[in-house]
Amino acid sequence: MRVADVAARGFGSASDAYERGRPSYPPEVVSCLAGGLAVASGSIVVEVAAGTGKLTRLLTPTGARVVAVEPVAAMREVLVEQVPGVPVLAGVAEALPLAGASVEAVVVAQAFHWFEVGPALAEAARVLRSGGGLAMVWNDRDVSVPWVAELSALIEWDDRPVASYHDGDWAGAVADVAAFGPLVHRRFRLDQELDVATLVDRVLSTSYIAARPRAEQAALADQVRRLVAGMPERFALPYRTDLYWCQRR
Ligand SMILES: C[S@@+](CC[C@H](N)C(=O)[O-])C[C@H]1O[C@@H](n2cnc3c(N)ncnc32)[C@H](O)[C@@H]1O
Repeated sequence: MRVADVAARGFGSASDAYERGRPSYPPEVVSCLAGGLAVASGSIVVEVAAGTGKLTRLLTPTGARVVAVEPVAAMREVLVEQVPGVPVLAGVAEALPLAGASVEAVVVAQAFHWFEVGPALAEAARVLRSGGGLAMVWNDRDVSVPWVAELSALIEWDDRPVASYHDGDWAGAVADVAAFGPLVHRRFRLDQELDVATLVDRVLSTSYIAARPRAEQAALADQVRRLVAGMPERFALPYRTDLYWCQRR
């Protein structure tokens, strides 16, 4: 299995903070998947890089038969607690533990930037039935809000050892795979209601931060607390949520 070392170490040590601190997804994401990808009763949906099941728990009420794939054991353990009854497989996007032409939808939340994009798209095309589809979704902090821009400046280190959503040419990558039709894009808004402790969990669940020594994490947590010291007890962290999907020909 190929999982970046920083993902294995970071998500492996911060799965509880991840579950407490990371946002859910807007309900429109699931409505679009139901309309655009036939994520519906009876269809088989594989969620790749399912993490602690933030999106998984929104997919199961559609009645689809959801199968989660996630390489990091600590993330899988939280997923099993949070979304009981969903089959969870160890595996990576570049070598899915599924038969060819066996699922109606492949869904990936907040994770495609972790994958080797070409091999992961080829695997999605392999496991999808003709007429099925692939979806990718990302929550992207709204840095047009000044304090959110300051937060992002604190955590998006120039030398961070990971790619981000913004690094990918997702439409271009999909256009290179003959098996897929063009990528459709929709944008939604999401406000994550949180308090300071939850915001600190959000920051410390960032893979490359979770992989740093405890003292460094504590110093960063103090900077985050200072940044939001004047905020009300509960406040909103605003996101833009980008959803992309394409059909398997
Ligand atoms: C930011 S988390 C997203 C988790 C979840 N989908 C969510 O929406 O919260 C990224 C996830 O990608 C997983 N991951 C990293 N590399 C992967 C790979 N090559 N194949 C599958 N999953 C991978 C990590 O273990 C982690 O759970």
